[in-house]
Amino acid sequence: MNTDSDYLIRSESIRIHTEEDFAGMRKAGRVAADCLDMLIPHVVPGVKTSDLDDLAREFIMDHGGLPACLYYRGYQNTVCISPNHIVCHGIPSEKTLREGDIVNIDVTAIIDGWHGDTSRMYEVGDVAPRSRRLVDITYESIRLGLEQIKPGNTFGDIAHAIQVFAESQRCSVVRDFCGHGVGKIFHDNPNVLHFGRAGTGPVLQKGMFFTVEPMINLGKPDVKVLNDGWTAVTRDKTLSAQCEHSVGVTDTGVEIFTASVTGQFRPQPAK
Ligand code: MF3
Ligand code: CO
Ligand code: CO
Repeated sequence: MNTDSDYLIRSESIRIHTEEDFAGMRKAGRVAADCLDMLIPHVVPGVKTSDLDDLAREFIMDHGGLPACLYYRGYQNTVCISPNHIVCHGIPSEKTLREGDIVNIDVTAIIDGWHGDTSRMYEVGDVAPRSRRLVDITYESIRLGLEQIKPGNTFGDIAHAIQVFAESQRCSVVRDFCGHGVGKIFHDNPNVLHFGRAGTGPVLQKGMFFTVEPMINLGKPDVKVLNDGWTAVTRDKTLSAQCEHSVGVTDTGVEIFTASVTGQFRPQPAK
């Protein structure tokens, strides 16, 4: 049986952070965002994805950080690189990117124990209109989700805004992966869904830290994980896109810890 006090205990399991904690996340988010900025000119036709991984690892170490994904649950790399029909957790390898690919790069930097987790879509050279359209829809869906973040709204409000927009564009929202609480712990409570009903789920409170990271498909939402245990792909092999920010709830709205200081959260293709 659930009583009101059970509910309070459970809702309290979403950590509430202090001003000092915001300062910690600001630093970690900045290094992660700067890392994705740094990669922009390197995401070109012919680049090996393992070379991008090396650049990201060196960048994070040079900035006093640790790559959170390296050795996380046996993962052997700094970033996840997920082109085209790969939904998430693509493993860097000797494979090269090709003109026309759209590719997500997801990085998490640890600075002083705080985790800055962010990802973006990069266009490799010239991409087809339907690929660009999917990337546009994905950025618009995260923008609409983030717009819902303020004390008193709920996690369901974020989810609903993302889902309604993506589906209005005849795209689908991946159900099998979600955002998460973030901070000193990489993947903390709560699960941050990208689909659901407005007004449902925990109420947002000042000091909550979490990620919003919708994965949007041109086709059906179904995914499968390949035999490597990581790579998630669309079952129907249609294109998938994702972008991610780490955020904190403020008095009046949201602070985006992983904003690009150069304004390149959505990078233009490198020449
Ligand atoms: N950065 C991913 C996220 O957004 C997690 C990747 S875990 C890894 O939560 F081990 F695959 F790197
Ligand atoms: Co994340
Ligand atoms: Co991430």
